[in-house]
Amino acid sequence: MARQKFVCGNWKLHKTVAEATALVKELAEGLAGDARVQVAVAPVFTSLPAVAQALAGSPIQLAAQDVHWETQGAFTGEVSAPLLADVGVKHVIVGHSERRQFFGETDETVRKKVGAVLAAGLRPIVCVGELLAEREAGRTLDVVGRQVRGGLAGLPSATLAAVTLAYEPVWAIGTGKTATTAQAQEVHAAIRAILRELGGAVADSIRIQYGGSVKPENAAELMSQADVDGALVGGASLKAKDFLAIVKGALR
Ligand code: 13P
Repeated sequence: MARQKFVCGNWKLHKTVAEATALVKELAEGLAGDARVQVAVAPVFTSLPAVAQALAGSPIQLAAQDVHWETQGAFTGEVSAPLLADVGVKHVIVGHSERRQFFGETDETVRKKVGAVLAAGLRPIVCVGELLAEREAGRTLDVVGRQVRGGLAGLPSATLAAVTLAYEPVWAIGTGKTATTAQAQEVHAAIRAILRELGGAVADSIRIQYGGSVKPENAAELMSQADVDGALVGGASLKAKDFLAIVKGALR
């Protein structure tokens, strides 16, 4: 079954409002209304309204990098899914390995956030991936399987259709080391098998992105794999030329 490729730029903690709007204007011009690949960018919270405005009329969609699971209340420093929807966000990255490593994110908080994102009518991009030590110990599929099951626990299959998965091996993030196409495809196929267990036929329509040192030089080959349906791009998404080249790679 043909799945539309989905490429999302995760800008992490980079760019002022002026830099962010300048970048998306360049991206919008570069794509020139071409919507064959689904494209999104995830700026820092402070840039979301300005980037939404800069993207008006363009097929590029807005994503956020994180969310809190409650809608409102005494949760100092947090941002909720309805507030993200309010400024034009369509996708929310949940469970990024940097959140898991540095900010105490667990499969349980991921599950709560996924529920909150879906309840607000938004689409979660759920990140999973093993540490280098886990891969070396032969535990990759166990770890990733536990993260997928934990993060999606209890979701009805109709709702699962709105979810995107992102397989990001932690050892490949920001290191310049990319998983080989075979390593990526193996894990992606395993994730899809779990999605099939959880949701039946809907698994065939769920996009599974690869993330971890995706660059113009390796993007096309990675996304040529049967179960690699796009990319979640960090460093290379900060430059219009590189990000546009990666999006082009999804078409080959
Ligand atoms: P890099 O592309 O910089 O390795 O980051 C990947 C990532 O974490 C995207 O979410």
